[in-house]
Amino acid sequence: MKKLYVQTYGCQMNQHDSDRAVQLMARMDYTLTDRVEEADLILLNTCSVRDKAEQKVYSALGRWRELKEKKKDLIIGVGGCVAQQEGENLLRRVPHLDLVFGTHNIHRLAHMVQEVQLLGKRPVEVAFYRDPSYMEDPEGRPEVQGVQAFVTIMQGCNKVCSFCIVPYVRGREISRPSEKIIREVQDLARGGVREVMLLGQNVNSYGKNSPGELTFSQLLDRINDIEGLERIRFTTSHPQDLSPELVEAYTKLEKLCEHLHLPVQSGSDTVLERMRRGYSRKEYTDRIHRLRDQCPDIALSTDIIVGFPAETDAEFEQTLEILRELEYDEIYAFAYSPRPQTVAVKIYPDDVPEEVKKERLGRVLNFQNEISLRKNKKKIGYIEEVLVEGPSKLRKGQIMGRARNNRIVNFTGPECLSRQMAQVRITAASANSLLGELVSSGEVSITLEPGGVA
Ligand code: SAH
Ligand code: F3S
Repeated sequence: MKKLYVQTYGCQMNQHDSDRAVQLMARMDYTLTDRVEEADLILLNTCSVRDKAEQKVYSALGRWRELKEKKKDLIIGVGGCVAQQEGENLLRRVPHLDLVFGTHNIHRLAHMVQEVQLLGKRPVEVAFYRDPSYMEDPEGRPEVQGVQAFVTIMQGCNKVCSFCIVPYVRGREISRPSEKIIREVQDLARGGVREVMLLGQNVNSYGKNSPGELTFSQLLDRINDIEGLERIRFTTSHPQDLSPELVEAYTKLEKLCEHLHLPVQSGSDTVLERMRRGYSRKEYTDRIHRLRDQCPDIALSTDIIVGFPAETDAEFEQTLEILRELEYDEIYAFAYSPRPQTVAVKIYPDDVPEEVKKERLGRVLNFQNEISLRKNKKKIGYIEEVLVEGPSKLRKGQIMGRARNNRIVNFTGPECLSRQMAQVRITAASANSLLGELVSSGEVSITLEPGGVA
């Protein structure tokens, strides 16, 4: 048995891709280890959405040079978005690197490892495919491990946001055939998965470039019918593709969780224009209001970029204003980072000083913290349905899971509740999570101290 060590940076799709790599290598007798020193094969799955993420790749590879010197037949491979972006350059820059696989080439991994072992080659595979079959595993998925599973439904992005490298490293939009997705979710549900997260760079444009294919809302509809499955989530959506049918899906599909991640990036029309996002602030907020009219309890999260080229104080204030207006439940905020190949790097100097970016980032996060805390406190006293994942990482002795609205809930309860639904009464809240007490789980109602049962 050989040992495989995997390090993953970046988004959920990268995590899912790494799981796929582990699965493929398991068929070649590699077992996973969490100790890099004992690995025979190290795979680094990379993110290049911001420069910081890219730099991490080079420092990790630097750290592993010594391991390679000690163990000559150690194989080190780099995959994901930096691999796609740099290709051959990575081999030149990192002499102890053995192989490079791009975002469409995970299915080639076992073959590439053999090329290193048997032929002494340093293979690089970064081709993009137009046919979605590269996303399929001919042997199907392995047995289910968690209670949740990621399912890739599409890859790539046809939008042209000026700051974003994703279309260059993930390629153009390609959707998997719906019958394959549905079969996969059926298998997962049969194996005990209760929640699926449908993944894609732009999930709500699912099917648009595949004539005769279901639309995203139709796909959700079909997945909603799958027996045994209890929850559906998806990420990430683009505001332009938030169709009336998708809004309606929230009102009629009982398994679709009441949460939408809809990146806005900025509250300023002029910045949105320079970002080439394809919507104005009003168009975005109108859509959110329409969604909330139909589904008042929906939780909303978003992404924000501060310090985009030429962002003035007044433009930045507009971002705080949209946060105030829409009161998101959660945000992810980033300082602008110029990326190779993008339109922004070619036409706009990165002219907002780092200290200003940092200060704006701090202000956005503090501002949102207050909103999140206020909104979370409103949940106190209510009962949330929690899908229990396991022991809480932060709170010793407690277990944790997520409510349908995506909030993390920590509470005291036996670990055997893992993978089960629990009804939890919320007793306290912070900006990032809720604290609660168990009311009941599964089919059985558990009696608490007097006054404890709903
Ligand atoms: N729809 C995509 C978004 C990818 S990038 C997906 O889910 O795959 C995730 C977030 O990173 C973006 O929404 C944006 O807020 C941020 N981001 C992208 N490019 C960036 C850059 N050059 N600098 C800073 N943040 C960036
Ligand atoms: Fe990136 Fe914009 Fe697509 S943020 S992933 S180019 S929608």
